[in-house]
Amino acid sequence: MKRTHHCAQLTKADLGTTASLLGWVDSIRDHGGILFVDLRDRKGITQVKFDPQVNPALAAQAAQVKPESVIGVTGKIVPRPEGTINAGLPTGEVEVDATELTIHNLSETPPFPLDDAGGDKVNEDLRLTYRYLDLRRPKMRKHLQVRHRATKSIRDYFDAQEFIEVETPALFKSTPEGAREYLVPSRIHPGQFYALSQSPQQFKQILMVAGVEKYFQIARCFRDEDLRADRQMEFTQVDVEASFVTREDIYALFEGMLKKIWKDVLGTDIPTPFPRMAFGDAMNRYGVDKPDTRFALELVDLSETFRSSAFKVFQGTVASGGVIKAFNAKGLADLTQGELKSLEEIAKSLGAKGLAFIKVEGGEWKSPIVKFFSDAEKAALTAQLGLAEGDMVFFAAAPWEKACAILGRIRLEAATLLQKRGKLSIRPDDWKFLWVIDFPLMSHDEAENRYVATHHPFTAPVPEDAAFLDSDPKKVRGQHYDVVLNGMELGGGSIRIHQPALQKKVFEEVLKIPADVVESRFGYMLKAFTYGAPPHGGIAFGLDRVVALLCGTTSIRDVIAFPKTQKGQDLMAQSPTPVTAKQLKELHIQTVMPE
Ligand code: AMO
Ligand code: AMP
Repeated sequence: MKRTHHCAQLTKADLGTTASLLGWVDSIRDHGGILFVDLRDRKGITQVKFDPQVNPALAAQAAQVKPESVIGVTGKIVPRPEGTINAGLPTGEVEVDATELTIHNLSETPPFPLDDAGGDKVNEDLRLTYRYLDLRRPKMRKHLQVRHRATKSIRDYFDAQEFIEVETPALFKSTPEGAREYLVPSRIHPGQFYALSQSPQQFKQILMVAGVEKYFQIARCFRDEDLRADRQMEFTQVDVEASFVTREDIYALFEGMLKKIWKDVLGTDIPTPFPRMAFGDAMNRYGVDKPDTRFALELVDLSETFRSSAFKVFQGTVASGGVIKAFNAKGLADLTQGELKSLEEIAKSLGAKGLAFIKVEGGEWKSPIVKFFSDAEKAALTAQLGLAEGDMVFFAAAPWEKACAILGRIRLEAATLLQKRGKLSIRPDDWKFLWVIDFPLMSHDEAENRYVATHHPFTAPVPEDAAFLDSDPKKVRGQHYDVVLNGMELGGGSIRIHQPALQKKVFEEVLKIPADVVESRFGYMLKAFTYGAPPHGGIAFGLDRVVALLCGTTSIRDVIAFPKTQKGQDLMAQSPTPVTAKQLKELHIQTVMPE
């Protein structure tokens, strides 16, 4: 039997004709002996009727079929009887009166319901074990399609801008500065290893030296990270690099790309250019470098207010160089004891000593700390936080970065609690893009007592700050930019260092990597730069994250066909697995099991 139509195609216009459909049995209903089969393929659903009065043998054959079996049906297109019309389906006014049935394969009963609502309630491990069934669900099929649309849109965009897609190796070499890597033993070079590429960063820069000028790649990247909803060990970057560009060029290029994706996939016009926010402002106002600006609840700095407070915790923090930050979770005074406890736990997990608060209830400030506050301090608080009845203020007293991080997290939690109460509305389709810029080029690693690159060591300093590279590296801003959407970091990049002498200086003098290590890890790159490296810069964004946002899901596992679990396992194919002693021997590998 050859398919003549797909299952979303037949309408009243086809009445009286004959069609053959192939697909999966979505459901079977028995109405007084007449069997109605909803036949499903990748496009949609068509109702098929088997009437024992008309063809008893065929109806008996159809009665063996169970949901999710694969069948082929030929029949005549007839109108559905009055009262059985389904206006919600494109094929809802007709049905196929079957004259022929081919059963290609019967199906076992699926271990979970394959409709969206039923499947969503199921444990994710079960869905991942039977991913081929999970992917039959309408929602998951849509996710795959959105991913395809977005990818196609990206390729078309860069092609139109005369970028060319170049593939770079997945088997690269170990460069331990970045994320933890996956090592791959070499069979023909005993004791030596490749590393799976964390990103095409070095190759794309080399491609600029090679004169490609405009490169992009939809590239698989590998990082041995702790997995979360927005992180997989294997993920996809849309990776871009161009020569003779400034930061402004990259902003415009990327805004154009995101605009096109949103238009092509969702039909939505997103406004460009995106707002820009300095890293310091993002931290001060939102407590993170990837602020969700769909709602306010902004943090304020109260260090001056409490510099000489009688409340020793606050006064002492300021005296030792820390800050007092707070925000008003407007309307959250009805927080329950349990909710407060769990916020405290979160704050403590981020290194807070406590989570001081003020609840404004019945015209009174209910708080374990107000008894220490002077009238002037209370007045300043009221003014700075716009305190009113029903409000809830949270405080953090800590070194700047820690105070920001604690309240940044509590702000998000408070927003969720306010949403639950209907006091704050955060729409998922309120697309708030922004660029975060002016990151420090270097951060100081206290444990190792040396500077480390905030992003990667190839980022160029902002020209007017370069003079501080020797005297005070933490003052130097990098020409780095992150693109953020609704609190998620979509991507980041920078203008790179293209002068070999400056790159060498950053490695050896600022990052204090020994010269021989620099030579063995990056020597080839420094050498390439001595043969005419153009000024260049680029960016990479996480395709999985973008597709997840386009699909309205918070987990990138939902938009990856075959993701790993949080524990890094493939539950369907059952990986990882032990290998044979022979395989290990061939690779010159011995394993030492943990105690
Ligand atoms: P970066 O490390 O910031 O930059 O990565 C760029 C983007 O890739 C996505 N991403 C991930 N997505 C899913 N799972 C992961 N484990 C994961 N790790 C990163 C994020 C992130 O913003 N070479 C530089 C870019 C450049 O400078 O051009 C780089 O890789 O969305
Ligand atoms: P204490 O005087 O230590 O009992 O603290 C009084 C209140 O301040 C308690 O509610 C603590 O949770 C809170 N608190 C203590 N230290 C800090 C801090 N560093 N930041 C914010 N709140 C704190």
